Amino acid sequence: MAGGAGTRFWPASRKMTPKQLLNLAGDRSMIQSTVDRLGTLCPPKNVLVVTNEVLVDAIRDQLPDVPAESIIGEPAKRDTAPCVGLAAAWVMAMDPEAIMAVMPADHVISPDDVLQKAMQHAASLVEEDETRIVTFGIKPTYPAEVFGYIERSEELPGTEYPTFDVARFREKPDAKTAAEFLKAGTFYWNSGIFVWKAKTILAALEKFEPEMTAHLKTIQASIGTDSFAETLTKEFTAIKGTSIDYAVMERYDNVKVVEAPFQWDDLGNWTALPRQRGVDDEGNTIDAKHLGIKTSNSIVRSDDDHLIVTVGMEDCIVVRTPDATLIANRNDESAVKEVVKKLAENG
Ligand code: GDD
Ligand code: MG
Repeated sequence: MAGGAGTRFWPASRKMTPKQLLNLAGDRSMIQSTVDRLGTLCPPKNVLVVTNEVLVDAIRDQLPDVPAESIIGEPAKRDTAPCVGLAAAWVMAMDPEAIMAVMPADHVISPDDVLQKAMQHAASLVEEDETRIVTFGIKPTYPAEVFGYIERSEELPGTEYPTFDVARFREKPDAKTAAEFLKAGTFYWNSGIFVWKAKTILAALEKFEPEMTAHLKTIQASIGTDSFAETLTKEFTAIKGTSIDYAVMERYDNVKVVEAPFQWDDLGNWTALPRQRGVDDEGNTIDAKHLGIKTSNSIVRSDDDHLIVTVGMEDCIVVRTPDATLIANRNDESAVKEVVKKLAENG
């Protein structure tokens, strides 16, 4: 899934260069790392990327080993449920019994081999019972409002990794509810990585989102024909958008959660960068030609070698790109999203 706008990484992320195409955490872009980390478990020929249509060419350039026709562009942004439905329909056309894994393109995960083993475990749970939906749970460390929460119940006996029945799934609770969940000690964050049979998720979408499914079925029938592009534009645009978490995860009753044995992070905004890149003695994360005097706990980044000097700055974010510079207070985490909205309003 690589169609997010990544507005919280402005000004580095723009419509044509959202975060999945940026090197935020290493030498490779987030979408490249997402494909790399699956290794031989899911070789590039089996990878399907669903993204916004304006990004298709850029993603094809970044992923030359993934077949060009497996990088599909959505004609409109409709959130993750239609994206998953389209992918599942595509997978079904290849193999009606296929197990698929859904990987968001905005994660940092390590090490790869641990992820791959855990994914195999998830696939074996689906092989045992094909109506299961399997997700990975992350032990929460703070009452985040930006993640889904999974409440576990009975543990499945004799599994390789701690695996539980899911009592309930709650997408992005408010701060008070998130704090209660954290205190209860029986909740995980939803990692956003799902493993299921393509036909199972399509059946679930049919049950919970019949209107969306009607459009998806028309698209499915056109796969491999000359009218695919035209049908996709017409039918996908007509879908009412929602996320897979609201559409299915909160409502489906055969969900299992595997406690993730790997390191996981969602690169949601600039404040995630120090977790990935580390900090110096003053608590700064610097990726720029920079001189700091009395500067601490700050993030400074530049695309070029323009000298940035900060004096007497604390908890500050400075991001310079050729045509725009962000200077923000680090404690205003979600406010960068507002910037993009305001800029759009002002043309
Ligand atoms: N193709 C496509 N189309 N991809 C999309 C779209 C879309 O309309 N919208 C988002 N995506 C992609 C994003 O690029 C990202 O890789 C992934 O889908 C998840 O979308 P986010 O917008 O980043 O979701 P989130 O982080 O707020 O929430 C989800 O992930 C969390 C963990 O990272 C939920 O699943 C939460 O429950 C979960 O905790
Ligand atoms: Mg995300």
